[in-house]
Amino acid sequence: MGEFVTVSVDEDGVATIRLDRAPVNALNRQVWAELGEAAVRCGSDDDVRAVVIWGGPKVFAAGADIKEMAETSFTEMYAHGAGLQESLRELERLPQVVIAAITGYALGGGCEIALAADFRFAADDAKLGQPEILLGIIPGAGGTQRLARLVGIQKAKHLVYSGDSVTAGEAAEMGLVDTVTTADDVYEEAMAAARRYARGPYALRMAKRALDEGAELDLDAALRLESTLFAASFATEDARTGMRSFIEEGPGRARFSQR
Ligand code: CAA
Repeated sequence: MGEFVTVSVDEDGVATIRLDRAPVNALNRQVWAELGEAAVRCGSDDDVRAVVIWGGPKVFAAGADIKEMAETSFTEMYAHGAGLQESLRELERLPQVVIAAITGYALGGGCEIALAADFRFAADDAKLGQPEILLGIIPGAGGTQRLARLVGIQKAKHLVYSGDSVTAGEAAEMGLVDTVTTADDVYEEAMAAARRYARGPYALRMAKRALDEGAELDLDAALRLESTLFAASFATEDARTGMRSFIEEGPGRARFSQR
């Protein structure tokens, strides 16, 4: 258990990675490191079947710790910057479905954490953005890359060049946010969605790999990856269960063992 990042797993196998550094979950080096450790822990725990990342009822994360960054030299950041990206790579590469539940602000590194999740659920009064340019720097935890891949390079350029934040509604319109709900409901909505994925078959992991890794490949290589994973899904117990259940009971009734 970290000082600022904790992991709890409920009886349905949904892990909550909780950012907890008052008042705004500013991401100092320790938080980044603990976030990476939390992701590794979720990835290696067979009981974890889906993950929600949550910054509490007030704020998701207002970005990297500016007070720490103000004292950071080029050489220190050169050595440390890759670590930010590594932590988010650990999160992004989790085999389980990951949902970011966003309240208040997801700015800078906060937005970048959310971008590493499969889905973003946001409170209707939340704000998202990449304000680094206003500090004289650029996003350094994947913001210029994942944002552009998600919403398109033009919208990403607008957000990164201007530093403007957008409301949850605007973010949903551009595809940055998937679901908008009230601040009181956002965590529970994310948990409910995560529980649904937690009940899904082992093939969900294969679907995630095919989509995420395939997106980085040319079409031929991506289709070969899909083909291999498609065949591999037939080796799972859940594939037997799913098809037998369809034949005997009709669609959508299978109870999967995640094996
Ligand atoms: N780092 C360190 N401290 C921060 C912080 C941050 N990112 N954001 C807020 N704080 C601190 C404030 O300094 C303030 O501290 P004190 O009480 O000691 O004065 C406290 O948190 C509360 O903040 P505000 O008084 O500003 O609260 P607010 O409700 O008026 O505004 C806010 C909230 C809109 C989030 C505003 O604080 C803000 O704009 N924060 C900075 C956002 C930002 O620029 N993030 C990008 C960081 S760079 C980055 O993330 C690089 C990367 O890609 C990895």
